Amino acid sequence: MTAPVRSDPTVVKVALGERGYDIVIGRGVIASLGPRVAALRPGARTFIVTDENVARNLLAAAEAALADAGVAASHVIVPPGEGSKSYRVFEQVCEAMIASRIERGDLAIALGGGVIGDLAGFAAAVVRRGIDYVQVPTTLLAQVDSSVGGKTAIDSTHGKNLIGAFHQPILVLADTAVLDALPQREFRAGYAELVKYGLLGDAAFFAWLEANWRDVFAGGNSSGGSAREHAIAVACRGKAAIVARDERETGERALLNLGHTFGHALEAACGFSGRLLHGEAIAAGMALAFEFSARRQGLVPKAEAARVIRHLAEVGLPTALKDIPGPLPSVDQLMELIAQDKKVKRGMLTFILVRGVGSAFIEAGVDQREVRAFLSEKLAER
Ligand SMILES: NC(=O)c1ccc[n+]([C@@H]2O[C@H](COP(=O)([O-])OP(=O)(O)OC[C@H]3O[C@@H](n4cnc5c(N)ncnc54)[C@H](O)[C@@H]3O)[C@@H](O)[C@H]2O)c1
Ligand SMILES: [Zn+2]
Repeated sequence: MTAPVRSDPTVVKVALGERGYDIVIGRGVIASLGPRVAALRPGARTFIVTDENVARNLLAAAEAALADAGVAASHVIVPPGEGSKSYRVFEQVCEAMIASRIERGDLAIALGGGVIGDLAGFAAAVVRRGIDYVQVPTTLLAQVDSSVGGKTAIDSTHGKNLIGAFHQPILVLADTAVLDALPQREFRAGYAELVKYGLLGDAAFFAWLEANWRDVFAGGNSSGGSAREHAIAVACRGKAAIVARDERETGERALLNLGHTFGHALEAACGFSGRLLHGEAIAAGMALAFEFSARRQGLVPKAEAARVIRHLAEVGLPTALKDIPGPLPSVDQLMELIAQDKKVKRGMLTFILVRGVGSAFIEAGVDQREVRAFLSEKLAER
């Protein structure tokens, strides 16, 4: 498999009937925001939600693109970071949207990473009982994961993403050139979610990433040119297909949580801080899911787990508990964090396990004691 030569943007369709939409992927596509919005919702006014970092780099470009097509726009700028997925900031966004006289037929635009997508998407789901919105994801994580699929949320004091709604966007516009300005560490964290699509259902894509990851990181600076666009399109196609079959996560969509049970526990153990970014936690979580699967009745050959760990480590992602800086809680506390994240039924947990690269499955009967024994070993290796 080789990446196609860069040309027109790639369009991936999310097939959800009347709630279906396009994901448009390419360098510079942000310039087409105005005409695309005008074509989708003639006469609609827009309200942009963004954060301070993104506003500095991209708000003027987004507003200019809208103005060129005669689309009216106002905006609100919130502080960067997970802290903005709070009741307080949510209230500010909703109030600003209403103050700018956004009506039922108008549009919200989420211009930013996953935090902005979740926050703006949830505001769009409830302001005036729901208005349409467009996702303009500006982090790799948001382009391959959070902007697609319609999950929106803010955080509760009891946990992340506990207050939210399913609300599909009407368009996702992923400009891959904006990722050139993304801090390397953020890009790398998003790359973990990209790898996830290979690991959960597309072995050929994982092999392609092993061979081409440097071009994906280099983006426009690489001789390969469109490797980044290609990788994002494959991931979006993977997510779109799963979402189309199971929009509300009654089954298969749970596969997208590969690495997330261990990952969320580690993220929580680090206090959702800069110590461990979400994607970094997921990288370690996927490595642990492979090791756990290898250990568990030899579901997957040890060499296969080693191959996954080798690739994640090669790009600079954490793959073991010892790669996580600072203190980690005891095995009891980690188990408590896992139990908080997952419903425990008669001592059994549901995990996404693997039979190999590209074949993940949902296992509802994982004994808590088995997970505890595994994590104890891993903690001892630190
Ligand atoms: N809805 C979903 O399906 C879903 C899926 C996965 C993750 N999420 C959510 O996504 C969030 C994480 O998203 P994220 O990793 O994108 O974090 P983020 O939105 O906080 O962005 C990371 C950092 O990069 C900055 N930034 C964004 N774009 C930039 C650019 N182009 N150039 C320079 N800096 C830029 C931001 O200001 C921020 O400081 C979490 O809250 C998570 O719960 C949601
Ligand atoms: Zn994730």
